[in-house]
Amino acid sequence: MANIILVGAQWGDEGKGKVIDVLTERADVVVRTQGGSNAGHTVFVGPQKYVLHLIPSGILRGKTQCVIGNGVVVDPVALVREIQDLERLGVRVNGNLRISEKAHMVLPYHRELDACAEKLKGKQSIGTTRRGIGPAYADKISRTGLRMLDLLRRDWPLRLREQVRASNRLLRALGGKPVSLAPIEAEYRRAARRLRPLIVDTVQLLHDALDEGKQMLFEGAQGSYLDIDHGTYPYVTSSNTTAGGACTGSGVPPNRIDKVIGVMKAYTTRVGGGPLPTEDATIADLLHGMGREFGATTGRARRCGWFDAVVTRQAARINGIDEIAVTNLDGLDTLSEIKVCTHYALAGRRLDRVPADLDQLAACKPVYRVFPGWSKDTSTARRWNDLPRNARAYLKALAQLSGAHLAMVSVGPARDQTILP
Ligand code: IMP
Ligand code: MG
Repeated sequence: MANIILVGAQWGDEGKGKVIDVLTERADVVVRTQGGSNAGHTVFVGPQKYVLHLIPSGILRGKTQCVIGNGVVVDPVALVREIQDLERLGVRVNGNLRISEKAHMVLPYHRELDACAEKLKGKQSIGTTRRGIGPAYADKISRTGLRMLDLLRRDWPLRLREQVRASNRLLRALGGKPVSLAPIEAEYRRAARRLRPLIVDTVQLLHDALDEGKQMLFEGAQGSYLDIDHGTYPYVTSSNTTAGGACTGSGVPPNRIDKVIGVMKAYTTRVGGGPLPTEDATIADLLHGMGREFGATTGRARRCGWFDAVVTRQAARINGIDEIAVTNLDGLDTLSEIKVCTHYALAGRRLDRVPADLDQLAACKPVYRVFPGWSKDTSTARRWNDLPRNARAYLKALAQLSGAHLAMVSVGPARDQTILP
C-alpha cells in the first residue's frame, strides 16, 4: 500500500464509503479534504449500518487516525452530533479524530442562504443538500469566512456577531429569514467545548505522519462531475472533488501521492438537477423497485442511467486514475441486456468528451454497446472466478473503456462482498 487518493468518477454516491472501509484496513491515516456534511458515506460492519457525513470512514477501524483537513467546511454542531451518534453505537472517536484549525465553518445562516438561493433559482435550482455548503465556501473565497480556530478565540462572539449581521442583511434582501445571534452563540460555544482538544494544525500532523512512513488514504466526497471546475457547472457542488483537491485540502504535496483510485458504479446515478446523458427509466424503475438508490443524506430517490464511459474516461484523465473499483454490480443481476455508452453523437459526429456547454451536452445522444446480462445473483461471489462469465466480460469492458486497471469489484454493502480480481 502507499499514499492513495480515492475519488468518485461519476456524480457522487459511487460507493466510496464501502471501498474506503475496505482500504482502511491497511491505512494508518484517513483524511477528508473537501465538502462537508453534504456527503453521506454508508458503511456496514456486520449488521450495523453507519452513515458518516463529516468524519472519515476510517473511524470505524479503531486504530486509524482520522483527519478533517483544511479544505473541508465543518458545521461544528453537526460534527458533535455525528460524534455522539457514533459513540452511542460504541465507536471510540476522541483519540482518533483531529480537525484542521484552518477548516472553514458552516453556520446556520449558510443553510438559510442555501435555501434562499435555491428558491430564487426556481426551476433552475441545483437541488443542493441544503447543508449550507455553497454559501460557506462563498464566504471562504470572499475572505469573510470563520475558521475552526475562530471558535477557540476569545473574540469569537464579536466575529460571529459581525458575520451574523452581514448575513442577515443579505438574507433580508433575498427575502429569507434572518437568524438570531444569541442561540447560535450558545450552541456553538457548547460545540467548541467538545471539539477544542480535536482542533489542531493538521498540516503538521500529516507531515509528521509522512516522515514516519505512515500510509495515507485521502477520502474523496461527492464525485468528479460535481467538481466546481470540472463538473457539469452550475449543477455542481462548491469544492474541488477531483484528485487535486486532496492536496490543496490537506497540505500534502502532489509528489507524496502514489496512486489514485476511481470508484464508479456499474451504472450511473445522480441526485439533484443537471444533465445525466444516459438517464433511463427502465433501469431507474428496476433499481428503485429493489429499494436501491435513495440518498444517504437527504433520502431523495437518485436519478439512474446506464454506465457512461465517456464520463468515466474523462474522469480517469482529470484525476489520474490508476485503478478503478466498480461497485453495485449486483444491481444489474436481473437484467437480460445491459447498455454501456461508449461515446456521444452530436450533430451527426462522434464526440469522446463531456462538453462544458450544457446545451451541447443536452444535444448529445449516447451511443450504446449492448452487453448480455448474466441473470444470476452475484452478491454471494467472493472471488473473480465466482462471477458469471458475462459479468466478468462486462467488468473488463468497463475498465478498458475507462482506460484504467480493474482493482476491485463490490457486490454488496458488506466488507466481505468485495472481489479483488
Ligand atoms: P451541495 O453540495 O449541497 O451544494 O449540492 C450541490 C449538488 O451536489 C446537488 O446536486 C447535490 O445533490 C449534489 N451533492 C452534494 N453532495 C453529494 C453527495 O455526497 N453525493 C451525491 N450528490 C451530492
Ligand atoms: Mg453519498
